[in-house]
Amino acid sequence: MKFRKNILCIGAGYVGGPTMAMIAYKCPQYRVTVVDINPIRIAEWNSDDLPIYEPGLGEIVKATRGKNLFFSTDIEGGIRDNDIIFVSVNTPTKTFGAGAGMAADLQYWEKTARQILQYSESTKIVIEKSTLPVKTALAMEKILNYTKNSISFDVLSNPEFLAEGSAIKDLENPDRILIGCQDTKSGLAARETLVEIYANWVPREKIITSNIWSSELSKIVSNAFLAQRISSINAISALCEKTDADIAEVSKAVGMDSRIGSKFLSASVGFGGSCFKKDILNLVYLCQHYSLHEVADYWESVVRINQYQQERFILNMLTTMFNTLAGKRICLFGFAFKANTGDTRESPAIYITKRLLEEKAEIVITDPKALKNAKADLTGMEGQVSFVEDPYKAAEGCHAIAILTEWDVYRNLDFQKIFNTMTKPASIFDGRNIIDHKRCFDIGFNVYPTGKPALTHS
Ligand code: NAD
Ligand code: UGA
Repeated sequence: MKFRKNILCIGAGYVGGPTMAMIAYKCPQYRVTVVDINPIRIAEWNSDDLPIYEPGLGEIVKATRGKNLFFSTDIEGGIRDNDIIFVSVNTPTKTFGAGAGMAADLQYWEKTARQILQYSESTKIVIEKSTLPVKTALAMEKILNYTKNSISFDVLSNPEFLAEGSAIKDLENPDRILIGCQDTKSGLAARETLVEIYANWVPREKIITSNIWSSELSKIVSNAFLAQRISSINAISALCEKTDADIAEVSKAVGMDSRIGSKFLSASVGFGGSCFKKDILNLVYLCQHYSLHEVADYWESVVRINQYQQERFILNMLTTMFNTLAGKRICLFGFAFKANTGDTRESPAIYITKRLLEEKAEIVITDPKALKNAKADLTGMEGQVSFVEDPYKAAEGCHAIAILTEWDVYRNLDFQKIFNTMTKPASIFDGRNIIDHKRCFDIGFNVYPTGKPALTHS
């Protein structure tokens, strides 16, 4: 079959895989190939056991794989044979040299640019899907258009706004698609090609365009604003605990103001995920670079409050459990950074586990989808940490439960059954405010919600 467009995506991760699966699903007239340097990841994409857990993903991959969606390690062939190339490689925080701990590490991105240049035999549209510092597209264009041959490249910015756990829903019905381009004849034509792809299922009024720098910056700012709301409500949760106000009531009252809105106002043990912290630090670095130190400080405080919230959670456990956790068994309900994903990158659970181990506690971890990643995150700590799939078994003999992920399964557990098997006094620290606190208190638990008065048996 002859396809109307041939599309390549470099990077088969949490963004590349689902995003391309959605394009293939919505556009059977296009051939979509996803390549990666990691052969294990590609083998998993080609198997029944996909490398990431995302509700609804299995179904659309099944419907398209082998028909118009292909996963491969042939990066060279992919670049040669496709004229539209999305780049969705990882852009973690730099861990070395100038900007370490702040700036984005662009080595994977630059390597990709050089590969595109090396293997291209025809003109290409290159689309930034990864989240990148402002002006990266300029660097990309410089690399790609360095040699003065007949091949030309147009670079577009098309940031991805999906959230893990709801990626398929977000891709199918996005709030907006943002496309940034250079204001040149070929830049505008490249933008139209990309608009045409999304217009297969996204209403035109939701496809917005901007200059390329605004597009790059908008992505980072969106994440910064979302994270800022969480840090704001978490900061107020600390005040609620001192004043007997209830964060859920405050959040509801504040969020009903239509100018503020109700989303992203759930107090928690802190935000995790691979992007919020890295993107804010990237923004901070950018501001520092332009000597906007007050602006940099303002945004950095969002990350500081997030760290404070996690440390506060630990100190609350320590002080309420008689100032010692040594030898106590603590069960973590959830290790993923949020519900409906197996992803544990930057999960507060990682920091909390390490801190509890410093206090010489014994840790039991349960999670419906993230145990494999949790084991990898805690390599070398096997003796002090155990992993148990069944939450009832995990809690047996424990002194405390800490709820770290808002999995639905934890909302409706038989807490009486759990209480009966635990060491007394038994405590629950609800870092997500998802269980019925009064009911658990009545069963006999000491209950420590987030941002609400504790319910304790004296
Ligand atoms: P990821 O680590 O899951 O996937 C990136 C993939 O790129 C990896 O499989 C890696 O092997 C591959 N890769 C790296 N260098 C390569 C190269 N030279 N050639 C081929 N493959 C290469 O990362 P992710 O979570 O998918 O994020 C990718 C980008 O998207 C990041 O910039 C991130 O900030 C952004 N983003 C992520 C999310 C999310 O929910 N995870 C959402 C929006 C945007
Ligand atoms: C986030 C953004 O929501 C996406 O738009 C963006 O594309 C993505 O980052 C990215 O660039 O990677 P994600 O991190 O997958 O998506 O998940 P979120 O739903 O934003 O949750 C992030 C963290 O905040 C989680 O740990 C979650 O539990 C926490 N959170 C969220 C709260 O603590 N309280 C809330 O009210 C909402």
